[in-house]
Amino acid sequence: MPAMNGRRRVAVIAGCRTPFSKAGTDLKDARAVDLARHAARELLERTNLDGRDVDEIVFGQVVPSALVPNVAREVSLLPQFPKEIPAYSLNRACASAAQAVSSAQDQIALGNADVAIAGGVESLSDIPILASRRLADILVEASKAKSLGARVGAFSKVRPRDLVPVSPAIAEPSTGESMGQSAEKMAKENHITREAQDRWALRSHRLAAQGTDDGRLKAEIVPWFPQRPGAAIVTEDNGIRRDTSLEQMAKLKPVFDRRYGSVTAANSSPLTDGASAVLLMGEDTARTMGYEPLAFIRSYAVAAVDPGWQLLQAPVWAVPKALERAGIQWKELGLIEIHEAFAAQVLSNLQGFAAKGWEINEDIINVMGGSIATGHPFGATGGRIVTTLANEMKRRDVQLGLLSICAQGGMGFAMVLERR
Ligand SMILES: CC(C)(COP(=O)(O)OP(=O)(O)OC[C@H]1O[C@@H](n2cnc3c(N)ncnc32)[C@H](O)[C@@H]1OP(=O)(O)O)[C@@H](O)C(=O)NCCC(=O)NCCS
Repeated sequence: MPAMNGRRRVAVIAGCRTPFSKAGTDLKDARAVDLARHAARELLERTNLDGRDVDEIVFGQVVPSALVPNVAREVSLLPQFPKEIPAYSLNRACASAAQAVSSAQDQIALGNADVAIAGGVESLSDIPILASRRLADILVEASKAKSLGARVGAFSKVRPRDLVPVSPAIAEPSTGESMGQSAEKMAKENHITREAQDRWALRSHRLAAQGTDDGRLKAEIVPWFPQRPGAAIVTEDNGIRRDTSLEQMAKLKPVFDRRYGSVTAANSSPLTDGASAVLLMGEDTARTMGYEPLAFIRSYAVAAVDPGWQLLQAPVWAVPKALERAGIQWKELGLIEIHEAFAAQVLSNLQGFAAKGWEINEDIINVMGGSIATGHPFGATGGRIVTTLANEMKRRDVQLGLLSICAQGGMGFAMVLERR
C-alpha cells in the first residue's frame, strides 16, 4: 500500500515505556526528564540503534517543569546521542505523545528526516508549584527596586495568603470545569449508568492484569531502579487492581458530584507518572537498515468540539476523519485502542460511534485494558497506546488498527495503523 497522498510511508519500529505509577508512589523521586531519558535510552538499547542515526526527537508533556521547559532537548542530550540532534516538546494535552508520533511521522514522510524518536512524559509527582499572582508582582517590584528601602517596602506588602502555593489545575481554562466534572456531565447527558461505568473499569483491570501476567504489557515496560535506599525495582504498572470487584466499586462515593454523580475513583483513570518512547523510520530507511516494522502509520486526524459542550467527545469526530483519510471503513478494523480517561467518556465515545451505525465489537477494543487500569501520565499515554496497538497487531496479524484519544480543550485524536 503506498503512502497517503503519495508521501513516503512511515514505519513504527518499536516502542517502550517506564512502568506507569500512581502519582506520589513508585516513581515519586524521579524527575520527568529522568523518566523521559530512561525510556529513550532503553529504546536505543532494545533496537540496537546507534544514536547517531536519529535525525529528530519529539516529546509531549502537558505540565512541564519550569526548570526543564523543553524536555525533548534534554532527552537528545543523552550521551548516547550526538549533540546536534534537534528536538522539541509539544502539548496536545492527553494526546501529546500521539501528536509527537504524528509530527515526527510528518517530518519523515516529507523527507526531512529518516529516523525519529517520538514519545512523551508526565510526572504529576514533579509539578511546578507556582507563586500567587500578588506574590509574583511583589517579587518583580522588589527586584526592580533601586534602594534597600524600596525593596523592604515591596516585601512589606506580602500577606500570609499570598504565600499559599498555586498548583496546576486539571480544569478547562475556558470553562473552569474539571475533567471529572465533564465526565460526570457526559454520563448524565448520555445516560451512562454507574453500573456500566464500573463494569468497563473492571474489564480494564482484568484485561490489564491478564496482559501483564502473560508478559505482553511487561515486554513494553522498562524497569525503573529507584534511587531510594531499599526501594524495590519497579517492573509493573501499579494502578492495576487484581483485588477489585463490582461490589467493592459500588461502595465508592462519587468524586465530582457527591450527591447525584456516578464518576468515582474506580471508574476514572488515576493521576499517574511515566514516560514512553517510539522509534519511527521511513519505510525505505527501515529496509536499508534491516529493521522489521511492527506497523505503518496510515493516517491520523485531530478534531475539536466546544469545550463547554461534552469535553471528551471529540474522538467521535476525529475517528471518521482518520478513517476517511485512510480510505477505510470502521468495519475493516481488527483492533481498536480507546484512551480511557473515564469509563463515562469511553462509553460516550462508543455510543457516538454506534450512532453512526458502526458495530461495537468489544472483543477487539482495549484488549489489554486501558488507562483506567494502567494509569494515564498525560503526556506519555499516546506512546503507550501506539506501542501496545502495534505490538498486538503484529501478534494477531491484524491488518488495520485504530487508536483514539480524547484530550483537554475538547480535542480528539485518532490514528490508523496498518501492518503491511
Ligand atoms: C478520581 C480521583 C480524584 C481519585 O483520586 P484519589 O481519591 O486519590 O484516588 P485513590 O486511588 O486514593 O482512591 C480513592 C479510594 O477508592 C478506592 N478505589 C479506587 N479504585 C478502586 C477500585 N477499582 N476498586 C475498589 N476500590 C477502589 C481506593 O482504594 C481508595 O480507597 P481508600 O480511600 O479506602 O484508600 C483521581 O484519580 C483523579 O482526579 N482522576 C482523574 C484524572 C483526570 O482528570 N485525568 C484527566 C483525564 S483526560
